[in-house]
Amino acid sequence: MSTSGWEQMAAWWDEKMGDTGDLWHRALIDPPLIRLAGAVKGIRMLDLACGNGYLSRRFARQGATVIGVDANAPIIERARAREAQNPLGIVYHVADATHLSMLEEGMFDLVICNMALMDIEHADGAIQEVARLLRSQGRFVASLSHPCFDKMDTSGWDIEYMYPVTTIWRKMSRYREIATAQVPWKTASTVYTNTYHRPLSWYFRVLRANDLLVSAFEEPEPTEELVANSQQGPWLAEIPLHCVIEAWKIKREA
Ligand SMILES: C[S@@+](CC[C@H](N)C(=O)[O-])C[C@H]1O[C@@H](n2cnc3c(N)ncnc32)[C@H](O)[C@@H]1O
Repeated sequence: MSTSGWEQMAAWWDEKMGDTGDLWHRALIDPPLIRLAGAVKGIRMLDLACGNGYLSRRFARQGATVIGVDANAPIIERARAREAQNPLGIVYHVADATHLSMLEEGMFDLVICNMALMDIEHADGAIQEVARLLRSQGRFVASLSHPCFDKMDTSGWDIEYMYPVTTIWRKMSRYREIATAQVPWKTASTVYTNTYHRPLSWYFRVLRANDLLVSAFEEPEPTEELVANSQQGPWLAEIPLHCVIEAWKIKREA
């Protein structure tokens, strides 16, 4: 596991996400994730790879009992500082998503994982832990980079203006390849984090192998706010760079 890039930019990330998430999250990724999470009052939930915990806080304010986990100690320090300042009863752990032995089997009604599965080196191990931690009929809701359209290094936009029509193309190559790449983040200096591409079928196969039955698949559409305020907004209205998966923990007949 390498989360050193994430550690290096913890302060920057905390400021960027703040208490509500940045525009990209607020106006694109979060709405379908929140919709699929549904009513959370009174439920026990895990925010896996929670970052600075802005979603943990959102769900705790709505009445969920929330535990947040991230492998990046400095970002968890910041999440805890926010909790100390404004207590919501959220408990945070520094832990690798594949080894959550401090959490009990079947203890959660809902596990969310916002934009992190593609950043987790052993996402199959993380999904196995999710399945262990969910009660039967519990749900897993995860947003991630869309494997079909967003692969670092080998996908990109192609905007073709041929009067009078503009055509938005999204290029992709080596889709089937399971590959590691680095994501550059423009902080004061450029910081790199690892990302891991797997085809969409890989996720479905791993979920199924862990008794997690896919029940919804969303491809976030930008809100008017994002279309107006991001160069990529109008392009994202045509082609999604993210997806959100909901899966139910089923109980197999013995
Ligand atoms: C793109 S950020 C998303 C953070 C948060 N969910 C959000 O929406 O703001 C990805 C997060 O995954 C965490 N991460 C990467 N690998 C991990 C692992 N093996 N176990 C736990 N967390 C991990 C990083 O530390 C980082 O906070």
